[in-house]
Amino acid sequence: MKKPVIAIDGYSSTGKSSISKIIAEKLGLIHLDTGALYRGVTWFALQNCLNEEGSIDTHKLFSSFDQIDLEFKNDNGELVLFLNHIDISKAIRTNEVSENVSFVAKQKEVRDFLLQSQRSLAEKGGIIMDGRDIGTVVLPHADYKFFMTASIEERTKRRYEELISLGIDADEQQVKENLLIRDKIDSEREIAPLKQADDAIVIDNTNLSKEGTIESILSHIKKF
Ligand code: C5P
Repeated sequence: MKKPVIAIDGYSSTGKSSISKIIAEKLGLIHLDTGALYRGVTWFALQNCLNEEGSIDTHKLFSSFDQIDLEFKNDNGELVLFLNHIDISKAIRTNEVSENVSFVAKQKEVRDFLLQSQRSLAEKGGIIMDGRDIGTVVLPHADYKFFMTASIEERTKRRYEELISLGIDADEQQVKENLLIRDKIDSEREIAPLKQADDAIVIDNTNLSKEGTIESILSHIKKF
């Protein structure tokens, strides 16, 4: 039987990526964290495409796509994101990237640039992809679709702890504001907004542990 294609969408810091990674290991699937791709493009823009006021010049960015080579490499089971052969997996988690990524991700040119590579990775099946528009736009025919949500307090706590564990300075109030702003921009954008697919299973994990969330998702997936 063909291995399934699983789409996991949802709000920021609901644990989509860390949970998808564990499910991928358990089921022998590839895991793609699509948020990391948008963060990678944002990091590139912050390095190379600023205008005189210090903000991102989208036209400069759109004409630089041919200089962006994003690649995930497997480092002892850990997928590490490289941009033009530089490891940017930690750099893309900084506040500067978090504060600019939703602006970059709402640009049609950026979404078009990243769409095809996401789709081609899923052609052979056997993949779990997490993001905001996977079940609605990238993989509308996915075998399973989940939509994850949790209270803003719980998500703030998780994101704050993640930043601290990465050695990145963080302030809880700022973390909360960034999550709310990103969710607003992501949900209200014209192209591929963050929204629940009609056929997605909703998982509210406010009161669920990581293990509980994983169990709940796995309970819907048939043996293959
Ligand atoms: O998943 P993560 O929080 O790292 O995603 C960072 C940002 O990338 C999101 O806030 C959103 O703006 C953008 N994104 C997106 N579509 C996806 C994945 C992420 O627009 N499929």
